Amino acid sequence: MSDRIAIDFVPLSAPLQPTAALLSAQDLVLSPEARALNGKSNGAVLRAAEAGDFKGKARTSYEMLAPGGLDIRRLVVIGAGQPDQSKETDWVNLGGYLYGQIAARKCETASLVAEIADPRSRSAADIAADLAFGAVLRSYRFRKYASKPKEENGDQKTDGLARLVVHTQDPDAAQMAFARRAAVANGMFLARDLVNEPANMLGPVEFADRARELARFGVEVDILDVDALKALKMNALLAVGQGSVRPPRVAVLQWNGARSRRSKPLCFVGKGVCFDSGGLSMKPAQGMEDMKGDMGGAACVAGLMQALAERQANVNAVGLLGLTENMPSGTAQRPGDIVTSMSGQTIEVLNTDAEGRLVLADVLWYAQERFKPRLIVDLATLTGAIIIALGKEHAGLFANDDRLAADLTEAGTATGELVWRMPLSSAYDKLIDSRTADMKNIGGRHGGAITAAQFLQRFVRDTPWAHIDVAGVAMDSSKTDISQGWASGWGVRLLDRMIADKHEKPEKPEK
Ligand code: BES
Ligand code: MN
Ligand code: ZN
Repeated sequence: MSDRIAIDFVPLSAPLQPTAALLSAQDLVLSPEARALNGKSNGAVLRAAEAGDFKGKARTSYEMLAPGGLDIRRLVVIGAGQPDQSKETDWVNLGGYLYGQIAARKCETASLVAEIADPRSRSAADIAADLAFGAVLRSYRFRKYASKPKEENGDQKTDGLARLVVHTQDPDAAQMAFARRAAVANGMFLARDLVNEPANMLGPVEFADRARELARFGVEVDILDVDALKALKMNALLAVGQGSVRPPRVAVLQWNGARSRRSKPLCFVGKGVCFDSGGLSMKPAQGMEDMKGDMGGAACVAGLMQALAERQANVNAVGLLGLTENMPSGTAQRPGDIVTSMSGQTIEVLNTDAEGRLVLADVLWYAQERFKPRLIVDLATLTGAIIIALGKEHAGLFANDDRLAADLTEAGTATGELVWRMPLSSAYDKLIDSRTADMKNIGGRHGGAITAAQFLQRFVRDTPWAHIDVAGVAMDSSKTDISQGWASGWGVRLLDRMIADKHEKPEKPEK
């Protein structure tokens, strides 16, 4: 996070940096500030637009070098589409797009004139903050293991842009609006960093050490080691880890930001399989390297806890990370083994590659026993089947509570981190009954994401609970406006928004 781009908000009247970006709405509708710059250039800005057939459509742009009459080296005009119809996510994505346009042009600092004609429903400060947020998300790179900067490839000439100066009507209001977004961006960066780390560098112990660092934001951190996990009888989680020379851990992260420390917490549980080889039911070699990201759920929960703490969220939240490595060896669990979970329920492990549900079974149980939470949301890169079902556009949402499902769906639409609700029912639940134990850990070829969720539900009593299968969205090599890499940091924005909108309502003062 050391090379994070700096964002400054300044008044519209502040002098422009040598590289400056302007926004133009569809049909070349310019803001007053942009019109003034066009005037100073003697109309050259609009003539250039016409010459280049630029109409102001979103995700289009053109560049003017040394524009006459303007005391700058380069002007980049960015299409903003139809601002009266733009939603929050459109502004954030536009911020990412414009970062890409500016950074491709090699400059250390750049100005963005974040003024737009007729935005209607959104305040100028929010728009400026959204654009800056998108730019920051786009600026993320994971290059710590490259000994040389990647210069040749035109797309990657982003090493230079260190500071974006955002010109806006009310810089103080924009700065305020940006502060909470910056906390979310930092949380997303933590999640991305953790997912991008290779498994030789980040095992359960190293992940727990990274979690410990959240103490500097005021998060209370407690790490459960193998002795503690044995004492708690987390045998399902321990069974997954027993084939690895690296011991498992459970990290307990608490953020107590509500006015009352006793207010029941929201609990977030993350699957943190630092590497999933499949164990003795080993995965094929092709694509196995992606399983360094099988801790994406835990990374999201860690990032969320950082975001909540950094923005001092008015809520009590607990993050629980089930950290382990799934490896084959002489000590590994075998297909056919039967383990007794912390809940007392027995599990026949028919496939050691269905390990995430074993980890979550114990951590979900522990969450309820220890914290009596208001609700639980777990995130897990749980099944390939959810990718078959939903592709990479939506994460799979399973819930025992319609209110919670609706709240998550709404937050997804607002942030662009979309979820799609999938069914749970006793008919699916039957598919994991076992002949010899209480249940088996696989349900057959059909509905694989659903039977995985049914398995988890057997470890949830009457707490409102949602399970989000993030196998398709936590890592994704396709590039978007706001994510150029593999780890997306998916889920931090979603959960942060759900909490802000539904759980930070001011509490009634005590009498
Ligand atoms: N971690 C995988 C799921 C996964 C697959 C995540 C692809 C991200 C991308 C999980 O542990 C797994 O192996 N699931 C199996 C379950 C099966 C054995 C019932 C799967 O989906 O094939
Ligand atoms: Mn697996
Ligand atoms: Zn896995």
